[in-house]
Amino acid sequence: MSDGQTVKLEEIVALAKRRGFVFPTSEIYGGLTSSYDYGPLGAELFLQIKNAWWSRFISRRQDMVGLDSQILQHPQTWVASGHVDSFSDPLVEDTVTHKRYRADHLIETWLEQQTTHTELDNLIVEDMDLAEMSQFLQKYDIKSPEGNPVSDPKTFNLLFETSIGSVTGEKSVVYLRGETAQGIFSNFKQVLDSTRVKLPFGIGQMGKSFRNEITTGQFIFRTLEFEQAEIEYFFNPKQSDWQQLFKDWQDQMWAFVTQDLGIDPENLRWRQHTEKERSFYSLDTWDLEYKFPFGWKELWGIAYRTDYDLKQHIKHSGQNFEYRDHQSGEVFVPHVIEPAVGIGRLFLMMLVDAHTQDQDKNRTLLKLKPSLAPYQIAVFPLVKNKPELVEKAQSIFDQLLNSSLKPRMTWDDRGNIGKRYLYQDEIGTPFCLTIDYQTLEDETITVRHRDSASQDRIKLEQLEQYLADMLH
Ligand code: GAP
Repeated sequence: MSDGQTVKLEEIVALAKRRGFVFPTSEIYGGLTSSYDYGPLGAELFLQIKNAWWSRFISRRQDMVGLDSQILQHPQTWVASGHVDSFSDPLVEDTVTHKRYRADHLIETWLEQQTTHTELDNLIVEDMDLAEMSQFLQKYDIKSPEGNPVSDPKTFNLLFETSIGSVTGEKSVVYLRGETAQGIFSNFKQVLDSTRVKLPFGIGQMGKSFRNEITTGQFIFRTLEFEQAEIEYFFNPKQSDWQQLFKDWQDQMWAFVTQDLGIDPENLRWRQHTEKERSFYSLDTWDLEYKFPFGWKELWGIAYRTDYDLKQHIKHSGQNFEYRDHQSGEVFVPHVIEPAVGIGRLFLMMLVDAHTQDQDKNRTLLKLKPSLAPYQIAVFPLVKNKPELVEKAQSIFDQLLNSSLKPRMTWDDRGNIGKRYLYQDEIGTPFCLTIDYQTLEDETITVRHRDSASQDRIKLEQLEQYLADMLH
């Protein structure tokens, strides 16, 4: 979507499938709602995003440590966190087809369709409670997308429940975690006791979370199973200014998206949650929003959760989670700021932002940041039936693969060079190297650039340095 272009979600979905980034889960059985698998190229890009996150937020910070807690945790975790009682969305059902929708989404869509300007222009749907939504749906006779009346909204809990061992007895009920955050809170004391961390410090982790989402149809934006990357940054509110810390984390999030992932800042904005919309335990919440093909939507949330979660776990577990400041002697429960993102959303944003239509050359390209592209270099022998060309190309391939660049590489000897370029453009490979007859004569090689489609003739002895300058 570079250069002010807009792309339709269908185009992204089609490219993702055609080129092996994202496949519908269980497609051979007709698919599974809001579930997607990452194909060969998608798995690689996904891993690059995760590595970039881990590198910036864990490895390269002295005040952060990592964690890898379980998906299944003691069920009391989710009672303490409040998920069992109130992790829910407002559900309505189409009275004819029995399809389920989120009441707030139906109202939002209805509002977007209104052409006349009224006092409803300023209505904030996030602020409405269940009773207000019910009245609103009735008053304006809002129908389902199929045009049928909908039921009265009711709360629908998003936690997936399952059981372990014997299926009888209360103890066997477990939940697939609804967020990775609770594994961090419940391990807080163990991290404190087993490492040298001192406040302020953070614990970050990545892993699968699960939500029985009602909304479907936004591709990988909202899925039942998703990879979350969350940070809990603990501090003493008497010694650290939470507003400053909050701002520092917002700057870090922005830097990660624009610098590390190479996203156009024009497609990003901050939105503060209103008081009514905010969770009751949060003193401030902001969303970093991205301009997706279906509108500005939450990419990454950041909240000041105070000492709510640790206190809840103290209450429910009976354990002592207090922190002792060795200098001042103060004993207290730390407060926390939480930046939380889904890797799938970052992934979708990257595909959308990178998608570019080059009308002049009639090609589609993914302008992915070279350091993150699934393949960074493609090597082509001009033709595959000339052993001397293939051998030379193979030796250059091996040499680069084992060089200090450690690039991700692919080999392609099928079809004409023009078609090979088009294929690599569509999967975002920033550099294609062609080994031709001239290479055999003068030890030079053609380097073709994805974004400009221009070509340079480079001496083989300079190739590694030439690529090093551009890959990172
Ligand atoms: N611990 C706080 C928390 O989980 P959240 O706003 O519910 O907060 C954080 O989720 C992030 O996780 C979101 O900003 C989004 O990027 C991602 N996310 C949440 N639900 C998701 C879903 N169903 N599918 C994909 N990503 C999701």
